[in-house]
Amino acid sequence: MQAVQDYIDKNRERFLQELFDLLRIPSVSADLAYKSDVARCADSVADHLRKAGVDKVEVCETAGHPIVYGEKIVDPAAPTVLVYGHYDVQPADPIDLWETPAFEPAIRKTAIHPDGAIFARGACDDKGQMFSHVKAVEAMLATGQLPCNVKFMIEGEEECGSSNLASFVAGNRDRLKADVILISDTSIIANDTPSIDCGLRGLSYVEVEVTGPNRDLHSGVYGGAVANPITILAKMIASIHDENNHITIQGFYDDVQVLDSAERTELNKAPFDLEAYKKDLGIAAVWGEKGYTTLERTGIRPTFELNGIWGGYTGEGSKTVLPSKAFAKISMRLVPNQSSDTITRLFSEHFTRIAPQGVTVKVTPHHGGEPVVTPTNSRAYLAASRALEQTYGKKPIPTRGGGSIPIVALFERELGLKTVLMGFGLDSDALHSPNEHYGVFNYFQGIATIPWFYKYFAE
Ligand code: BES
Ligand code: MN
Ligand code: MN
Repeated sequence: MQAVQDYIDKNRERFLQELFDLLRIPSVSADLAYKSDVARCADSVADHLRKAGVDKVEVCETAGHPIVYGEKIVDPAAPTVLVYGHYDVQPADPIDLWETPAFEPAIRKTAIHPDGAIFARGACDDKGQMFSHVKAVEAMLATGQLPCNVKFMIEGEEECGSSNLASFVAGNRDRLKADVILISDTSIIANDTPSIDCGLRGLSYVEVEVTGPNRDLHSGVYGGAVANPITILAKMIASIHDENNHITIQGFYDDVQVLDSAERTELNKAPFDLEAYKKDLGIAAVWGEKGYTTLERTGIRPTFELNGIWGGYTGEGSKTVLPSKAFAKISMRLVPNQSSDTITRLFSEHFTRIAPQGVTVKVTPHHGGEPVVTPTNSRAYLAASRALEQTYGKKPIPTRGGGSIPIVALFERELGLKTVLMGFGLDSDALHSPNEHYGVFNYFQGIATIPWFYKYFAE
């Protein structure tokens, strides 16, 4: 293992520059204006895999953005690790809030990252974390120390719903055969407090359209006499949380798995500094469902969030208009054993039911995903736990992640495989926000930890 670490140390500067090159490609999957950049990024990932010594590297076309596949079979009798990650990123907007441009990576020190952090869209989510695997495998192959077979499946549509991954997985069952799925696309508690996410929330994403009159109206001539769809939409949305911030959609909590008090106590043992949390976000108080802590609100409870709301006139100056339509984008985070389809249906029925006469409501489902919990007693989890303990000097704490990686449930269903979420980012790394960053420490800690996982998993 010393040889592997020596190799990493010796190639430190190149490993950083290569990640920078990847970060310069604006692989925004949600926006078709970037389609060729996304394709260029897939080609670049494929090149890096080939240079790392991975075989059978292929850029697999899909109906959407390509999936990069590659494998290294060192010994058919050895266990096989399937690494999943994504090379696509979220849109960079609002771009004027970036201190340095989103696709021109720059290193700056922060309070949390005194050794410097790489600022760029995708630095943490997920290019930096995904690329740690490429570099770790390169280091193991270069030093003749890869004790497991490895397969890579790096997709380009994670940030927009992974709509073509299911059919790729179904059509490549044999090729994807493995013993475990390893993903670095989650967070640890802090750089001195390692943790492993053992659950992710599911997702129901919907868009609603409320229509009032058949055209935009003069707000003086008609205002006060015709329902304004923006007012109606705002009222309907406000009614979704009651005074305890409990969600009022009928049947919403029916399938929610309730944790017993021992499990809740265990979850709340994870270090969490409420004051630091508020300070980091610039808020005077946290908010949420009554009777639950912040860790529970993001870990084991479902939520209803507005992601965007619009309608009427929002341009410069003023326009006295009573608009015909109002819109919102909404995401609901789900926990075991809620189902994405059921929640989407319950929301749709509820929203239609509470709409007053005088408006019509249209609900359009977008992507979704199922919640998962991953085992803490599997060979793979124990290998990850030992690996983190090796490089952080502390045993990692099992936690629940608030975000979603919908394909984890899909892998379990389609391939019968469990996942280990060995993430290296921090929640405060501004994922999906302006000034996303990834600690230089975190990047190299990932590269150093992954080989230990292979070593322990092979044992
Ligand atoms: N890497 C995140 C998910 C994540 C982040 C999990 C932090 C746990 C901790 C992933 O790229 C992501 O953003 N997923 C989306 C879902 C997708 C369907 C758009 C999400 O959670 O909103
Ligand atoms: Mn991600
Ligand atoms: Mn993301």
